[in-house]
Amino acid sequence: MSQNLSTEPVVAIVVAAGSGVRLGGEVPKAVRPLAGRPLVSWSVAALAAGGVTEVVVVVGDGLQDVFAEALADAPIPWRIVIGGATRQESVARGIAALPPGEIVLVHDAARPLVPVEVVRAVIEAVRSGAPAVIPVVPMSDTIRQVAGAGSVVVDRSGLRAVQTPQGFARDVLVSAHAAAAGREYTDDAAVCEASGYEVLLVPGSREALKITEPYDLAVAEAIVAGRR
Ligand code: CTP
Ligand code: MG
Repeated sequence: MSQNLSTEPVVAIVVAAGSGVRLGGEVPKAVRPLAGRPLVSWSVAALAAGGVTEVVVVVGDGLQDVFAEALADAPIPWRIVIGGATRQESVARGIAALPPGEIVLVHDAARPLVPVEVVRAVIEAVRSGAPAVIPVVPMSDTIRQVAGAGSVVVDRSGLRAVQTPQGFARDVLVSAHAAAAGREYTDDAAVCEASGYEVLLVPGSREALKITEPYDLAVAEAIVAGRR
C-alpha cells in the first residue's frame, strides 16, 4: 500500500443485524437498554471516543426506524444499511456502503463497553501498516477439548479469545471479503487470513465483553455502575 495512513479518517461498520436469540427479550438485542441507553448507542459512542469519524450500522430488515431513534444522540455521522443472514454477509453489506477512509474498523454492536484504549490501539496498529488487527484476551478458565465420551485438557497458554473492533486497511478488507463470498469464516480477521494477510494481535479488555446471554447484560450494568 502506498498511501500515508497517518492522517486518514477512520470509518467503522457496526454489525447489529443478528436476532439475539440467546439474549431473548422483547426488543432486538442491539437496541436493548444498558443503563437506559441502547447497546448500539454505547457501541457507536465508544468507537467515536477512540477516533472513528463515521459509521455504517448494519441492521435487520424493517428495523431502520428503531435504529434511527437509537442513534439519534450519536456523536458522529451514521448511515443504516440492511444486513444479511450471517454476520459475514452483514459485514459485506456494510462494506458496500462504506464512506471514504482507508482505515476500517468492524465492531459488534453487542460489545457496547469496549474501552477507548482498545479502539485506539487497533487504529494505531492499522495506521502503522498492519493489514489486519484484532484485540485479544487470555483465557481465564482451564479449557478441555471434548471428543465423543472423553475429553483432554488443552494448554491454554497459547490460546486467546478474540474481540472487536477489528481493524483493517480498507483494500485488504474489501478484497478479502470479496474473495470469501460463499465460504463462512468465524470473523473478519479469519476472512483476511484466508487471503494470505497476517493478523496482528493487540491487547483487548474484559470490558469489551459480548452481550450474548442475560448474564452478560447484568455484568455490563455492573461495569457501567463502576465507571460512574
Ligand atoms: N450479526 C449481524 N448479522 C447477522 C448475525 C449477527 O449483524 N446475520 C451481528 C449481531 O447483531 C452482533 C454480532 O454480529 O452484534 C455478533 O453476533 P451475536 O453476538 O451472535 O449476536 P446475534 O446473532 O444477534 O445473537 P444470537 O446468536 O444469540 O442470535
Ligand atoms: Mg449469532
